[in-house]
Amino acid sequence: MPNLITNLITKLARAELVDMVPYQSARRLFSSAEASGEEKLWLNANEAPGTGEYQISSDNINRYPDFQPDNLLNAYSNYCGLERSQILATRGADEGIELIIRSFCRAYQDNILICPPTYGMYAISAENHGAGIVKVPLVNNQLNLTSLQSHIGKVKVVFLCSPGNPTGNLLPKEQIIQAIELFKDNAIVVVDEAYIEFSPEQTSVSLLKAYDNVIVLRTLSKAFALAGLRCGFTLASSDIITLLSKVIAPYPISAPVAEIASLALSTDLDKMTKRVQDCNKIKANLSTWLNEQDWCSEVFASDANFILFRCISQSEKTRIFDLLVKNNILIRDQSKQMQLENCLRISIGNEQEITQLKEALLGNLRP
Ligand SMILES: Cc1ncc(COP(=O)(O)O)c(C=O)c1O
Repeated sequence: MPNLITNLITKLARAELVDMVPYQSARRLFSSAEASGEEKLWLNANEAPGTGEYQISSDNINRYPDFQPDNLLNAYSNYCGLERSQILATRGADEGIELIIRSFCRAYQDNILICPPTYGMYAISAENHGAGIVKVPLVNNQLNLTSLQSHIGKVKVVFLCSPGNPTGNLLPKEQIIQAIELFKDNAIVVVDEAYIEFSPEQTSVSLLKAYDNVIVLRTLSKAFALAGLRCGFTLASSDIITLLSKVIAPYPISAPVAEIASLALSTDLDKMTKRVQDCNKIKANLSTWLNEQDWCSEVFASDANFILFRCISQSEKTRIFDLLVKNNILIRDQSKQMQLENCLRISIGNEQEITQLKEALLGNLRP
């Protein structure tokens, strides 16, 4: 019977989904580790350390929430300085990515453009929807504008990630502007700013005024330490927001999510700023330390809450990764990404967590 069902579903499903590998999220990769019962140090998903404390009310929980809850939109409007009509609250920035592709790309006809190494969900969302994927790799962690130019008219959406994941660095502002200019008549340029709070002065939000083809993505999952809440924001012209609002589910933001997110964006803003300062300090120290280790050949500059580094060989990369797993410390292997041979990524945890990671790597814990 199970086989029969499998065969039926295989027959009915969109053929390209049957063999598709889903996004290997940090949680999925280590789901068995989670079940093992031993306490784990999660330094593989660029989350923030420490838990927030929020009291929420269950008044009106019998009612559907507003399509875009007032308290939340007002709070984000205050935070980012845009009109409410230019903001769409979503279930994480990931939902923003999906909505953009579904709104601008016709399945099996239109393409998105990505600049690897980059965040994996652009390609996964495109594949899910049936949009084609054009790749213009970064050169020295920056955009290849000459190559981007050769794709004008052939793609509908261009995804730029700044600061980039997994590389960590900001793209130069002039390059972002040049890319927006190149595509200003025929493609949307999305600037994914999931990590922008770690270098807030570099935001591209001001470009929304000058260009119609720009979208900025934001999230509360990183600097705001609310990855479990699933709350992100798409910032764009009111025309684009009206379009995306036709595609999103009718009640995307639950009332408890709106309540917690509104508090984080108002009364808790100072906590966020302090968290970012602490993270940047710990990151600078870890970067110096990594540079001193003889198994490390390169430490990438980071404007985000993680550090990418390269090991001197594949065997050293595997040894380092496995040594940490043995000590219940989980980081992310990025070595399968284009240009990132032997590279691993560490999310910046709190001081104690990073000390523990260093001790493990020095062989002072479980060797
Ligand atoms: C660059 C980038 N964009 C978007 C996201 C998704 O964020 P969210 O948790 O808001 O869906 C992530 C998550 O890691 C990310 O690294």
